[in-house]
Amino acid sequence: MSARARPRLLDLAPDEEDFRAAVLAGLLARPKSIPCKFLYDEAGSRLFEAICDLPEYYPTRTETALLERNAGEMAARIGPGCELIELGSGASRKVRLLLDALDHPAAYLPVDIAREPLFAAAAAIAHDYPALAVTAICADYSQGLNLPPPSAGRRRVAFFPGSTIGNLKPAAARSFLAACARLLAGGGALIVGVDLKKAPAILHAAYNDAQGVTAAFNLNLLTRINRELDGDFDLDGFRHLAFYNEAAGRIEIYLESRREQLVHVAGVPVRCAAGERIHTEDSCKYGVAEFQALSIAAGFRPSAVWQDDAALFSIHYLEAP
Ligand code: TRP
Repeated sequence: MSARARPRLLDLAPDEEDFRAAVLAGLLARPKSIPCKFLYDEAGSRLFEAICDLPEYYPTRTETALLERNAGEMAARIGPGCELIELGSGASRKVRLLLDALDHPAAYLPVDIAREPLFAAAAAIAHDYPALAVTAICADYSQGLNLPPPSAGRRRVAFFPGSTIGNLKPAAARSFLAACARLLAGGGALIVGVDLKKAPAILHAAYNDAQGVTAAFNLNLLTRINRELDGDFDLDGFRHLAFYNEAAGRIEIYLESRREQLVHVAGVPVRCAAGERIHTEDSCKYGVAEFQALSIAAGFRPSAVWQDDAALFSIHYLEAP
């Protein structure tokens, strides 16, 4: 790899103290819950990539097909020489479709909480797109993102795929979008992937795959706690639970205690009743008009939306104020 193709790295990752404090607070609360961003350690990031390839997990391949089909139209809206930020970039796979379609993109700034996968993905992009200035930012963007302003005359566009926006409840999603609108103000735009409401059976299968990869991904959180916070969770004592709450329009994901048990984390005793649940994630689903209304409330102007023929998934183009 040439020196020019090496990405710049900006490490703003939350430290172990944040993890300990969040886990203990979450396990001592009622109902118990742990923020979903902690699912993505190195093993979790690998398991999530495996989820994306599962036959039941339609979001990744549907969104990828939408990008394949419509990246040209997106690129035309964006115009030449943009700076592209990606929130939750993971393995930076989908963004390549956008980069390939864009007219001389100037910079790519992937942002992710998982440090090693992020740095590896940024290095691969820098290698494959030598004209692109790549800056990898390891950060928890849910806490707000402070970025230097774009270079003069550059349009800043953020790409937020994977329906990660759905992992926030609607009120939090709205504040998050409002923060994005401020970050992108002055001619920027947000391209955001949003999973659509649909038949509960399809949703149920997507979060309860036959091979058990989603269960392993969810349970890996306990392995991480055992390793990093000196925990003694018995993995056989918990099961993966995911179901569609139709009234709320969201998949709810939990780790459910199979029996009454006493666990220790960082020396702190945590009692779990039989059937008690630790909430690990929500995945909210939206109709197209419903998500546009949320975007407008956050200060954006929705100007285009793409969806597949089966109406499984949508990608919105939102113009910042
Ligand atoms: N953003 C993804 C989604 O909501 C994340 C995800 C997929 C996930 N499967 C999961 C998170 C299982 C926790 C458990 O679809």
